[in-house]
Amino acid sequence: MARHLITSALPYINGVKHLGNLVGSMLPADVAARYLRARGHEVLAICATDEHGTPAEIAAAEAGLPVEEYCAQQYVVQRDLGERFALSWDHYGRTSRPQNRALTDHLARRLHEEGYTEIRSTSQIYSVADGRFLPDRYVVGTCPNCGHDRARGDQCEQCGKQLDPTELIDPRSAVSGSTELEVRESAHVFMRQSALAGRIREWVDGQEEWPQLTRSIAYKWLDEGLQDRGITRDLDWGFPVDPEVFPEAAGKVFYVWFDAPIGYLGATREWADEHFAPERAPTEFDRWWRTDRGADDVTYTQFMGKDNVPFHTIGFPGTLLGSGEPWKLVDRLKSFNWLTYEGGKFSTSEHRGVFMSDALELLPADYWRWYLMANAPESDDTDFTWPLFGDAVNKDLVGTFGNFVNRTVSQVVRHFGEHVPEGGDPGDAEAALAAAVDARLVEYTGHMEALEFRKAAAALRALWAEGNSYLEQREPWRTIKVDRDTTACTLRTALQLALVDAVAAIPFIPATAGRLRTCLVGDREWTDRIDADLPATARSALTPGAPIIPPGLLFEKLDDERLSAWAERFSGADDARGATTPEVAT
Ligand code: 2FM
Ligand code: ZN
Repeated sequence: MARHLITSALPYINGVKHLGNLVGSMLPADVAARYLRARGHEVLAICATDEHGTPAEIAAAEAGLPVEEYCAQQYVVQRDLGERFALSWDHYGRTSRPQNRALTDHLARRLHEEGYTEIRSTSQIYSVADGRFLPDRYVVGTCPNCGHDRARGDQCEQCGKQLDPTELIDPRSAVSGSTELEVRESAHVFMRQSALAGRIREWVDGQEEWPQLTRSIAYKWLDEGLQDRGITRDLDWGFPVDPEVFPEAAGKVFYVWFDAPIGYLGATREWADEHFAPERAPTEFDRWWRTDRGADDVTYTQFMGKDNVPFHTIGFPGTLLGSGEPWKLVDRLKSFNWLTYEGGKFSTSEHRGVFMSDALELLPADYWRWYLMANAPESDDTDFTWPLFGDAVNKDLVGTFGNFVNRTVSQVVRHFGEHVPEGGDPGDAEAALAAAVDARLVEYTGHMEALEFRKAAAALRALWAEGNSYLEQREPWRTIKVDRDTTACTLRTALQLALVDAVAAIPFIPATAGRLRTCLVGDREWTDRIDADLPATARSALTPGAPIIPPGLLFEKLDDERLSAWAERFSGADDARGATTPEVAT
């Protein structure tokens, strides 16, 4: 039994996430966690809301709430949606909690003690009307390059040029629109990434398991030369820096991207505090995170969208390496391209695309889970389209898996009652089927081990299809008229295969797969295990005469009319959407 730590990029607190956010980190992390549990490994799956930073402050102001209250509310909304999507975290925490603050302070102090921080004076834009410094992207104005009149202080969206807010023509505050802006000097803590570059590169060189997308992003940054990075900000909302360690930066808060990844540790500590007695919690935390205290045998896998890769291959490892302490670093970093929506971007403000709350209003989580993972944006950006969604549901779930189970169970019930059919002996057809199933399982588990989700879904679909081919070849609906024993053997074999199919499908469609498994094995002893023994275990659970419960139809078919109505409703066109505006617009 191996030990696996799994984290998904921590979703920003501001607003319900869309399907692109879901498939880019949280959902694949869950599929991997469920699979590894079903391999018999010890798994700790961690997620949390990422709560600091200006976007949270602004969303709270728009919602008319104090930021703490806004975050507390949105935390519950996001955690509940995750649960309804069957995301099986061991803990879903918050980056604003005291555990994360203690770890953030600790790591900042260690960086300081190791000589990897320095105080620098920087020029910041101060908005007199707003009474605050403005982060670069909250200064807007005319682009000096292309004349776009709503360019942001960090980058012009129209021409793509990277900007400094002081370069903007007619700059104004994005918060209030005020033009009363001043440049003021402000002292900040910088992390000396330039001094850490050698150690980071050496570590990246050793990461042979990283996929190509991850490696190329990491090397692009390393090859361009690492810049020192400000890790504090002039804001109210965030963890205040420890004035004893950084007296020059007293009153500032840590930059959200400094404390967010530390949130993986913080949320693990929350988990330990929640599940163990106070004297044991530190040891349980260390078992996952400190290689000198038990975490040396942990495999740590992170999931994230490609925009997050630099922070996880450079910034966060830099923090951990620079601390001089033996923290567990990521082993496998799985990153995703973008999911687009019907050829464009998902947009909260324009109500374009399907958000997690919308999705569950339309259909159970398994429909979305299957479509998203079977079409995950792994090697390229992928477009969500309603016809493709319809195909994934109608062809794979209804036509292949559902149809096989339904045909099998209805023949069994009609001719043999609610029991595994008795009689007949397996022959050549059953041996051929068993060989094909073994081969499909090898293919499936191989892709799952490699975190190749589209390929794994294709192998699972092919496993399901074996059942339909077998039924078509054996024709139990015809043989029942002439040979009851042979038919019994066919249907018993098919039921056993349905159990294999269900258990193998647990990572992707846990609710339906779990329901089918329970209908087939009832309260007899059973452990979900996805391995080479699964077909044999299924045979011993479904012996002749064992009772079964018909599961009913597993999935419903989606007709064109429904799909078109949904396409219209989520198109972003005015009035199309009805009452499902996400809770918070950002
Ligand atoms: O891009 C995002 O959604 C960030 N909130 C991810 C943070 S990941 C981790 F570092 F916390
Ligand atoms: Zn421009």
